[in-house]
Amino acid sequence: MITVGIITASDKGAAGEREDRSGALIAELAAGMGWEVRAADIVPDDLDALKARMIHYADTLAVNIIFTTGGTGFSPRDVTPEATLAVTERLVPGIPEAMRLESLKVTPRAMLSRAAAGIRGRTLIINLPGSPKAARECLKAILPSLAHGVEILTGGAGECGSES
Ligand code: MTE
Repeated sequence: MITVGIITASDKGAAGEREDRSGALIAELAAGMGWEVRAADIVPDDLDALKARMIHYADTLAVNIIFTTGGTGFSPRDVTPEATLAVTERLVPGIPEAMRLESLKVTPRAMLSRAAAGIRGRTLIINLPGSPKAARECLKAILPSLAHGVEILTGGAGECGSES
């Protein structure tokens, strides 16, 4: 079974001043895929705090996929992509490309998300925007392809020839 960790990047959420609706939504959609959500945390928009949580989820909890939500925009505090780039060894540009391609059909503001995706060891880390609506729209574009990616990453897939 695919295991998932969810990190919500939010100063207000971490201070208890805002409900984390996006993290809950991602957990619900992941569970709907039949995946196990192993951990979920709210972390302030702080580079070191985000890096530490990503490393913990990848190296200690060894989840297959880490979804982050929030901190991908232009605010000076938005550093989730930078934390992701700092802890990953290989980039997966196709994932944010697919998210932006689909999201641009919904809103031109999709170009304002700096979301990244990359691989740390056997863990795929994917940035999603912060609003539940945006997170849902982005996940719709990528969820169907992720199981195959995890299969390859963990050495389980034989060939990539088939379409599904
Ligand atoms: N993507 C989708 N699919 N739908 C949206 O409504 N909003 C955009 C963008 N991506 C949006 C989206 C907006 S307005 C911003 S500012 C950026 O995501 C960054 O969001 P974040 O800072 O919450 O991560």
